[in-house]
Amino acid sequence: MGQGAEPGEAVGGFIASRCFRLFTLVLAVTNCAPARAGSVAATSGGQATPIIIAHRGASGYRPEHTLAAYELAIRQGADFIEPDVVITKDGVLVARHEHRLDETTDVAERFPDLRTVKRFGNDSATGWFVEDLTLAQLRLLRARERLPSRSHAYDGQFGIPTLDEVLALVLRMSGETGRVIGVYPETKSPSYFRSIDLPLEEKLIAALRRHWSDLADAPVLVQSFEVENLKRLRSMAPVRLIQLLDAQGAPADAGGTTTYATLASAAGLRGIARYAHGVGANKRLIIPVGPDGRLLPPTSVVADAHAAGLIVHVWTFRSDAPFFAAQYGGDPGAEYRQFAALGIDGVFSDFPDHAAAALRRR
Ligand code: G3P
Ligand code: CA
Repeated sequence: MGQGAEPGEAVGGFIASRCFRLFTLVLAVTNCAPARAGSVAATSGGQATPIIIAHRGASGYRPEHTLAAYELAIRQGADFIEPDVVITKDGVLVARHEHRLDETTDVAERFPDLRTVKRFGNDSATGWFVEDLTLAQLRLLRARERLPSRSHAYDGQFGIPTLDEVLALVLRMSGETGRVIGVYPETKSPSYFRSIDLPLEEKLIAALRRHWSDLADAPVLVQSFEVENLKRLRSMAPVRLIQLLDAQGAPADAGGTTTYATLASAAGLRGIARYAHGVGANKRLIIPVGPDGRLLPPTSVVADAHAAGLIVHVWTFRSDAPFFAAQYGGDPGAEYRQFAALGIDGVFSDFPDHAAAALRRR
């Protein structure tokens, strides 16, 4: 357990009581943000409309993790944008979903000689990796759409943004739109990066502090699939933390018998509430599917998390094949409404416009 206030205490002006799901939490914009910006309601307990978190930006429309994807998401109504964060060879945080670069950039054509094999325990991967490129080299890359099923019309048009550039965009767009736009960075593979002497956490906190003087009141949520780095972050700054929960497997830094299933149990959620403000859950932990792919009745995870004092954000809402369940009859709104009725507090969506259309009418 890290140091700092328990979630049951007031944390730097942010009321984080175990009953805080009963309240609307207004995230005040601080010094770097425009004076007239409004507020983002980060709510919980099904008391208000779920917030919309743009998953990798408006990644259903633009190559993921580009400034163009984030800006479009904000214009479509996203409350938060979600940069996944990795780090370059020379220690600069940049937005990419994973450290491997060849699935979302033209790195193979630009730097053919940097192809290599990485070993992770008993596993290995062959490709191009962000920790082998300096920022100057990364600046030469262009993003491309990952999925063959999505439009490639924007391939080659956008560069790879640094985290500082993403945060600057958030503040600029807050001023331009008159809304408080939040940022929801995810530390990717933090124990791996720490193991190669490129730790993420200190640089992440420093970057956030360059843009918000008071992280306790900033519209910032930091997420991770790992546990120990969240506890480390909690000891470093009063930033709100979100424990990601997958539908199977275990955190990379898990010891003993800890799995995502044990973390998602009522007892596991009470344990998470000692260091985090909420969970980011795979939607199949909320509404599972059977072996035939059909949706099953909801679990108790939302109720259990709320009972533990945690907010619940759910991922990932995608309106396109092959991700979209046939039972929704081709209506993305049906899925958002189903989850909203369960009392979730936010959605990670590749299509923020669809989320806004479904949820803002409620
Ligand atoms: O962070 C929530 C969700 O984005 C987790 O999945 O793999 O898209 O980062 P991933
Ligand atoms: Ca993510």
